[in-house]
Amino acid sequence: MSDNNIPEKPWSGRFNEPTDAFVEAFTASVNFDQRLYRYDIQGSIAHATMLAKADILTTAERDEIISGLEAIREQIARGEFKWSVSLEDVHMNIESALTQRIGDAGKKLHTGRSRNDQVATDIRLYMRDEIKIICAEILRLQQALLTMAEQEADTVMPGFTHLQTAQPVTFGHHMMAWFEMLQRDRERLADCNKRVNIMPLGAAALAGTTYPIDRHYTAELLGFERPAENSLDAVSDRDFAIEFSAAASLIMMHLSRFSEELVIWSSAQFSFIELSDSFCTGSSIMPQKKNPDVPELVRGKTGRIFGHLISLLTLMKGQPLAYNKDNQEDKEPLFDTIDNLKGCLKVFADMIPAISCKHDNMRSAAMQGFATATDLADYLVRKGTPFRDAHEVVGKAVAYCIEKDKDLSACALEELQQFSSNIEQNVFDVLTLEGSVAARNHIGGTAPQQVRLAIKRAHLKIAE
Ligand code: ARG
Repeated sequence: MSDNNIPEKPWSGRFNEPTDAFVEAFTASVNFDQRLYRYDIQGSIAHATMLAKADILTTAERDEIISGLEAIREQIARGEFKWSVSLEDVHMNIESALTQRIGDAGKKLHTGRSRNDQVATDIRLYMRDEIKIICAEILRLQQALLTMAEQEADTVMPGFTHLQTAQPVTFGHHMMAWFEMLQRDRERLADCNKRVNIMPLGAAALAGTTYPIDRHYTAELLGFERPAENSLDAVSDRDFAIEFSAAASLIMMHLSRFSEELVIWSSAQFSFIELSDSFCTGSSIMPQKKNPDVPELVRGKTGRIFGHLISLLTLMKGQPLAYNKDNQEDKEPLFDTIDNLKGCLKVFADMIPAISCKHDNMRSAAMQGFATATDLADYLVRKGTPFRDAHEVVGKAVAYCIEKDKDLSACALEELQQFSSNIEQNVFDVLTLEGSVAARNHIGGTAPQQVRLAIKRAHLKIAE
């Protein structure tokens, strides 16, 4: 204890001068890494348990350490712990509080470890939990999409390429496209977790430790798959965080595209959907406005998540082995990614069930853009016209309809026959929107029957 009652830094022995006040604040991470406290304590309890098993600590010391750490955990949870910037980070704050509380046994906790393997372990424990929560939120969103797809399996809307009307699709099919993207996102996180769930503890500062530690035992206590193979790698690489951040970026890229559609669809010009009032805001000046702020904000937040990926990649690229202080900078981008990703997924999962479809508007939009032109060409091909000729014939028929300001399906049979003698009365079966979607009846196609089969398979997939 120093004169003014502030505990000394655990490393102060080698130093003659106190740390410059600004440098102390500049190098400290406690203001943000304190969120890791539960994992830090969990790791320390496992470490002490292993040390006692290996006869490096007595069981009495182990028990004092564990109950001391548990008491500190409660104190932090109650908001009564005094964090000190002069103790730099979450690790030294907790260790110092432990020693103040239990005396000499507390000073033994750090035997056979370093903050370097400690912090790498804390982040992995934290990420493992967060990945679980994020996957559950993705799943909730997927379930909302499945419900919507079921309800709207027969709903016809225009499908777009280049944001120009292309061919009719079903709204259910469209929702299932988002389901698929999110399924891959969830698989990516599960795969990333395999590499997160490896234990650095025991790597110590960089080279391992001279004590007879049992890393397999500590790994087992902490639920890690196995101890990391190489101590230098274990303390220094943050590739697992970068990988997570890349997976998070892909999720945000998907949510951002989805947001863009919701914004377009809820505009007066499209008016395909109505977002619930509880997910929109008004304008302080234009009384008529109902703004799709939620999807806009999700789209906007995508930028910072991409930015964090670049931050982490750049943070890592210049570092020689092994640990460098640079790595302290991994936390804020990682935390911000996790907080915002969870927020975006939550708001989406809540918002989707509250969307209502404007079926008539979707239908009439699909009618307007000659969405069944390809169906007419396919019809002619079935009647023996080569596809390129059929394409030409339909192009002319569309030009005719534009001039007459009507849809292909509104033409009389004789009008259509001007363009090809292969056209007969049954052409009208393929010119309707329902006929068009129903005809795409194969796996992956937009036919309502196929959408229902896809939903069934999806239910099985998410139950796995
Ligand atoms: N606060 C540090 C970090 O986040 C903990 C590890 C510090 N290790 C050290 N040798 N300075 O990376």
